[in-house]
Amino acid sequence: MWLRNRVGTLRSWMAIGLSLMLLGTAALVAYIYLGNALHGYAAESAILNDGARIAQSERTGIQACIACHGARGEGNRALGAPRIAGLAAGYIEKQLRDFARDPIKTGVTLDPIARDYSKTPRVQVDLTVYTPGVRRNAAMNAAAAALDNPEIHAVALYFSALPYQVEALPSDPETLERGEDLALRGKPEYGVPACTSCHGPNGRGFGDQFPPLVGQAPEYIIRQLNHWQTGARDNDTMALMRNVSDQLTDGDKINVAAYFANVAVSSQDAEK
Ligand code: HEC
Ligand code: HEC
Repeated sequence: MWLRNRVGTLRSWMAIGLSLMLLGTAALVAYIYLGNALHGYAAESAILNDGARIAQSERTGIQACIACHGARGEGNRALGAPRIAGLAAGYIEKQLRDFARDPIKTGVTLDPIARDYSKTPRVQVDLTVYTPGVRRNAAMNAAAAALDNPEIHAVALYFSALPYQVEALPSDPETLERGEDLALRGKPEYGVPACTSCHGPNGRGFGDQFPPLVGQAPEYIIRQLNHWQTGARDNDTMALMRNVSDQLTDGDKINVAAYFANVAVSSQDAEK
């Protein structure tokens, strides 16, 4: 009897001790988890603050981003500056690096290295020869070259997180119909896939690789297509856009740009 009681008390003490230990562990885990979450949140908002500061500051001889792209990154048609609010951060970051890259240096340092191809397993194409892209625009070449990598990252995150709202631009029905045909069907007889097959089902963009076409000014879209044809923009992975642009007539460019500009978009529909 006495022994059984002692064992019983011992059991309850053990149970209490164990519960306390579990409670302690849980509290410690919660403390670490919450601490990390708060720390992550603080780090993220510090980067966004840096981004805001970079977006608003001039540098010697270079205007602030917002002087051309607008106070909220909404773009400025008169200056030919596209909307950058709400574009994928990875896309903005890539464009800034492409603008910043010196085309002459690129040619010298990145000549394909001579290899003994008999020893290289060939799959389809040689993906080991990689030439990073370049994009020419006097204003942007200077603006991007003045930033270091952490600054590029911060300013990209900042503009990417900004809300935006773009009104639809009216156009005549015939232009819109032709533009729609090209956007949704492509030009299969010339091997051009539908624009929406890469740029997302409604042209709203897809991931970091495929930028939105809706919510950009028609002149901007036309200018980019021309830049790929002339090589002023030569930064598209696997020449995807070069091959598309090369098959477009001047009329095609006008029609398709009018079609995408005819759609109203805002950051709110993007969340739906
Ligand atoms: C003097 C005006 C000017 C300034 C300052 C400027 N931009 Fe631009 N930006 C432009 C123009 C014009 C274009 C379009 C270039 C083209 O037609 O290829 C452009 C293009 C871009 C693009 C490409 C967008 C896309 O859809 O591909 C990004 C990203 C960008 N700018 C970010 C910035 C950031 C970030 C800053 C500040 C560090 C900045 N710009 C400063 C005028 C400017
Ligand atoms: C096979 C995939 C593919 C198809 C099809 C395609 N694009 Fe693109 N497009 C891309 C990629 C990839 C980029 C981004 C290139 C880069 O990294 O700068 C791009 C970029 C663009 C840009 C630049 C946007 C900006 O913000 O600067 C325009 C304009 C454009 N495409 C128009 C079109 C039009 C119009 C069509 C249909 C006629 C089309 N694209 C079809 C892959 C495609």
